[in-house]
Amino acid sequence: MARMQIGPYRIDPPVVLAPMAGVTDKPFRLLCKRLGAGLAVSEMTASDPRLWQTRKSLKRMDHDGEPEPVSVQIAGYDPGMLAEAARFNVANGAQIIDINMGCPAKKVCNVWSGSALLQDEPLVARIVKAVVDAVDVPVTLKIRTGWDRQHKNALTIARIAEDNGIAALAVHGRTRADKYEGEAEYETIAAVKAAVRIPVLANGDVTTPQQAKHVLDATRADAVMIGRGAQGRPWIFREIAHYLATGELLPEPSPRDVSNILLGHLEHLHLFYGEQAGVRIARKHLGWYAKDRSENASFREVVNRAETAQEQSRLTRAYFETLQDSWRIAA
Ligand SMILES: Cc1cc2nc3c(=O)[nH]c(=O)nc-3n(C[C@H](O)[C@H](O)[C@H](O)COP(=O)(O)O)c2cc1C
Repeated sequence: MARMQIGPYRIDPPVVLAPMAGVTDKPFRLLCKRLGAGLAVSEMTASDPRLWQTRKSLKRMDHDGEPEPVSVQIAGYDPGMLAEAARFNVANGAQIIDINMGCPAKKVCNVWSGSALLQDEPLVARIVKAVVDAVDVPVTLKIRTGWDRQHKNALTIARIAEDNGIAALAVHGRTRADKYEGEAEYETIAAVKAAVRIPVLANGDVTTPQQAKHVLDATRADAVMIGRGAQGRPWIFREIAHYLATGELLPEPSPRDVSNILLGHLEHLHLFYGEQAGVRIARKHLGWYAKDRSENASFREVVNRAETAQEQSRLTRAYFETLQDSWRIAA
C-alpha cells in the first residue's frame, strides 16, 4: 500500500479514528493512538468564539502531550468564523484542521452546517478556501456521499476540495438523509478516489480487520477511518494494522488485556475531567467495553452505581478478574 500522507505528516498505519462528539476526547484519542491508530481526530469544536471559554471547550482544546499530528475538527457555516476558529485552534496546538461536512446531527444541521452544507456547493468552496487561506497547517474535509440518494454530489465536492487546497478528504459512505440507517456503500467512495489526486479516507461500518481490507480494496482509498467500531474496542486499530500488514488476525485480547486497557482508560478519564465528571463520562465507555457479552449486563448495572473513581475502578477490576478465571478454565 502506498504511503498515506497529510501535508508533512505520514499517517502510519493508515487506520484512523473518526471524530465523534462525546467520544473522541483526549483520553480516548491517546488510547487509540497508543493501540495503533495512525491518526485520531478530535471531537468537533464550535466555530462560535462565545463558546471557546466554556469548561467543555477548554477541555476539548487541551492537546498537551498528545502525539503528533494533532487533528482538530471545526464545524460551522460561516467562512469567516470557520477561518477564525481554524486560526484559534492552530494557536492552541492543532497541526491539522478538519472541517466537518459529514455530521447529520440536528444541533449542527439546524444552523446550516455539518452535512447540510453539501447542498450549497458555492458555499462549500468559500468555506474551504477561507479555512485553507487562514492557516499554514494542512486542512482536511469530512463529507458524506451527498445530502440524499437523489443528490449524491460527493464527486463535485471532492473536486471543489482539491481545487481549493484540501490536503485529504474523508468520505462516509452514506448520504445525510440516510443518517446511520442501512449499510454504508463504497462505490461512491471509489468514484471519488478515482477522480482526485489528494488522499481519500474511506469511512462507514468498518468493524473488523477483514472489512477494513475489503473497503480499502474496493475503494482504493488511502486509509480507512473507524468510528463506532472503536467504541469500547480501541485495540481495533492494531488488529486492523496487523491484518493489513500480514494477512493474519491477532488473537482476541484476553479479559486481562481488556481490563488493563480499561483501567488505564478509567484512570485517565478521572484525572482529565476530575472525579465527578470523570466517573460519569467513564460510564458511557464502560457500557461500550461491556457490550459484546451478554453476561456483561449485570456488570454494567453494578458499575453504573459507583459514585467514586476508586469504586468504579475496583468493581471493574474485580469483574474482569472473574472473567479472566472463567476464560482460563474454558481455554
Ligand atoms: C457518537 C457519534 C458522534 C459523532 N460525531 C461526529 C463529529 O463530531 N464530527 C463528524 O464529522 N462526524 C461525527 N460522527 C460521524 C463519524 O465520524 C463517522 O463518520 C460515522 O460514525 C460513520 O463511521 P462508523 O460507521 O465507523 O461509525 C459521529 C458519529 C457518532 C456515532
